[in-house]
Amino acid sequence: MASSSSSFSLFGVFAIAFLVFGSSPVLSFKVEEDKENLLQGLNGYRQAQKLPPFEKNAKACCIADKIADVDKDHPCNITTANSTVTARHLSQIANFEHYAEKCKVDLNTTADAIVMPVCVPDMVEPMLLANYTQTQYAQYLNNSKFVGAGLGVDVDWMVVILTTAEHGGSFAGSGAGSVVASMGASVLVVLLGLFLVGNL
Ligand SMILES: *[C@@H]1O[C@H](CO)[C@@H](O)[C@H](O)[C@H]1NC(C)=O
Ligand SMILES: *[C@@H]1O[C@H](CO)[C@@H](O)[C@H](O)[C@H]1NC(C)=O
Ligand SMILES: *[C@@H]1O[C@H](CO)[C@@H](O)[C@H](O)[C@H]1NC(C)=O
Ligand SMILES: *[C@@H]1O[C@H](CO)[C@@H](O)[C@H](O)[C@H]1NC(C)=O
Ligand SMILES: *[C@@H]1O[C@H](CO)[C@@H](O)[C@H](O)[C@H]1NC(C)=O
Repeated sequence: MASSSSSFSLFGVFAIAFLVFGSSPVLSFKVEEDKENLLQGLNGYRQAQKLPPFEKNAKACCIADKIADVDKDHPCNITTANSTVTARHLSQIANFEHYAEKCKVDLNTTADAIVMPVCVPDMVEPMLLANYTQTQYAQYLNNSKFVGAGLGVDVDWMVVILTTAEHGGSFAGSGAGSVVASMGASVLVVLLGLFLVGNL
């Protein structure tokens, strides 16, 4: 009895997840986990430098996801891996105006923020974190000017955007639509996760 009801619940969770994410639910859980793990790793680094942890910035997450989505079309190999570890401003990213509009970010609040892409095949964890803490990116992590982070993933690409407390890099914007949507998605992921654990 117990096993049939729990396998039904499990099926339900995956069915819901499939509807919500429109793709492999397992992949979506993995992506959320990769982001959480990296953010924790970055905040561990912050703590070691005696700096406050990065707060998650929903609008920066939205743009980071869109940038990662494009980066995934580029091959990820050892050559590209090294050459992509270069911090950029949002204005140096192709189509940034379009992304800002989609994510409802006021462009006047993006100038001081920094975009940091990496490619790491399969998102192998220690290597992923090291690509931030042991490269030129470390200087941005170790800078109290940056207070927020938005993470985006697609396949082998991770994009981290660091935002500032000052208006010029806060990723503030008009309208709250995408913040609510992405918070809603996170809550759903957590709820589904709890449901899944509770039913195993
Ligand atoms: C890696 O990607 C670059 C850029 O497309 C390409 O020129 C290079 O041949 C690739 N190297 C390997 C080892 O696949
Ligand atoms: C990539 O960067 C690492 C660390 O800086 C270096 O040890 C390695 O030789 C580089 N690899 C290539 C192919 O440039
Ligand atoms: C952004 O800054 C420009 C120039 O400073 C200004 O003209 C424009 O009104 C600002 N846009 C918003 C939405 O605040
Ligand atoms: C970054 O990741 C690449 C794999 O894409 C790896 O070869 C490289 O060693 C990593 N760099 C550091 C500094 O960990
Ligand atoms: C981080 O920044 C502080 C203050 O600028 C400096 O003292 C420290 O050496 C830096 N740490 C690293 C690992 O670069």
